[in-house]
Amino acid sequence: GKFIHKVNTVFYRRTGTDVVGAQVDAASRHASGEKNGCKSLHSLLVERQRQAEKSVLISCQSKTNEKKLLKYLSRHGDIKRHFFYESYGVYAVVEFANKDSVASLLHTVAVPCVSHESIVPFKSRLLSLRNSSLVISSNQSSQIQCLPQTPILMNEVIQRLSKEDTLDRQITSLTEFYQLTEENIRLRFLVCSLLKDIAAAYFPECTVKPFGSSVNGFGKLGCDLDMFLDLDSISGWTTELTKSGLLLEYQMKPANSERAVTQSILSVIGECLDQFGPGCVGVHKILNARCPLVRFSHQPSGFQCDLTANNRVAMKSTELLYVYGKLDPRVQSLVCTVRCWARAHGITSSISGAWITNFSLTIMVLFFLQKRNPPIIPTLDHLQDLAEELLCEFFEFYATFPFNRMSINIRKGQEQNKPEVSPLHIQNPFESSLNISQNVNTTQLKNFVTLCQESSWLLYQSKTMSPKGVAVDSTTTTWGIATLLLPSRVPGIKGHRKRREPASERIKSLLESLKYKTQQKKTKD
Ligand code: GTP
Ligand code: MG
Repeated sequence: GKFIHKVNTVFYRRTGTDVVGAQVDAASRHASGEKNGCKSLHSLLVERQRQAEKSVLISCQSKTNEKKLLKYLSRHGDIKRHFFYESYGVYAVVEFANKDSVASLLHTVAVPCVSHESIVPFKSRLLSLRNSSLVISSNQSSQIQCLPQTPILMNEVIQRLSKEDTLDRQITSLTEFYQLTEENIRLRFLVCSLLKDIAAAYFPECTVKPFGSSVNGFGKLGCDLDMFLDLDSISGWTTELTKSGLLLEYQMKPANSERAVTQSILSVIGECLDQFGPGCVGVHKILNARCPLVRFSHQPSGFQCDLTANNRVAMKSTELLYVYGKLDPRVQSLVCTVRCWARAHGITSSISGAWITNFSLTIMVLFFLQKRNPPIIPTLDHLQDLAEELLCEFFEFYATFPFNRMSINIRKGQEQNKPEVSPLHIQNPFESSLNISQNVNTTQLKNFVTLCQESSWLLYQSKTMSPKGVAVDSTTTTWGIATLLLPSRVPGIKGHRKRREPASERIKSLLESLKYKTQQKKTKD
């Protein structure tokens, strides 16, 4: 689309080298879904949605006999893939080869027979396998294997990273530990598809699309599921006048504004999820937010969900990040490492508030990559060294960035004078008058900068003395990226303590070293 072209021009203009030109060409081919198995976001969405529509979600018992269950289900048609996971019990995701098989299966599914309570008679593709001697396996060995849908614990991450012998491997492993798995992505699309079935009670032509980190390539296991209800197939549909000059139109209720329409749709769908939606709990309608949404928890998948409507800009931002992530694998690794580092230190949080959001943080990484000299690395020979250097440079870049005066602008790839007095100003790439980090307060920004300073110092040390570091226990010594994830030693950073203490001696010496480096850089320039 249009913005892919923009991405191209940004990189061409700033680099002007053939290698990068070729990279960008490849990336735009990727982005348009032409080659190398790397799809455009649109074709990826379409393919995943199709898979999801052919799938069912079944609550099972942990001792379920997998073979018997599959045999039982395959009476309705070939099963293409299946997997099990645990979330408040064991679940199976089963994808049939054909959509008809799902319909055939649903014809045989019974309505629960409850003696003490009543049920809402809403049928969906969320099913339960009832206890029967046939499906329970008798021996332990045939017990089903559940695939994890949450990340490994931070302590284990630190231990495992410390066992790697280069910083580059640490970065790659960290990305692998956290990135969404194939199964987790399938589950996310299946939840969207189940919600679509509910919303289709009102809007049969709707689709529910995931956006944000579930699909932009920067998702981490356990991240929320952002969705939007797409009604474009209804509102965007117009027809030309026929030869006779006659045209029939639907009569539709007028409303005060687009926002009012979005609010009333989300209000009704939210109510419907709350009252009828199997597995949807803790439904909150947050309709007065700048972007109205319905927040709830989808218990069978364990996902925290945000459902929005009429949210085309978010879809564009998602695609922008997706394309940037595809331009170069190091973009994804760097974003993942920085996100993980920020989360470990409470710079970002799972609760909304004055914290820097992952979205803002990702834009900050992209901006840094644009500002870097050269902007993205033209020589492909030293990938490993460069991947290491990028993280160090990222921390140095933001440790000394003039946040008080300047705004981050990834459209121009240049900092600009701040148009307003927010502590952190990052221009929204699609709505240039808006600041995507307006929520961030001075304390949070200071924490971020201080941590960048500390981490830059720690990495600098790791480079000179790897892989010996701090002893975590008798068997492992923490070093490199693992050290960055340990609690900060800077006073006032851990938790969200209000009291601020003066900078430690260590930080002072670090600042001096940074100042020295900046001076050196200026002299070189
Ligand atoms: P995590 O959920 O933290 O993993 O990252 P995320 O990228 O999904 O962020 P979040 O759930 O906060 O927001 C979802 C998506 O909404 C983002 O990826 C952006 O596309 C979009 N978004 C979030 N905040 C803003 C904002 O302030 N302005 C705009 N235009 N879009 C935003
Ligand atoms: Mg999200």
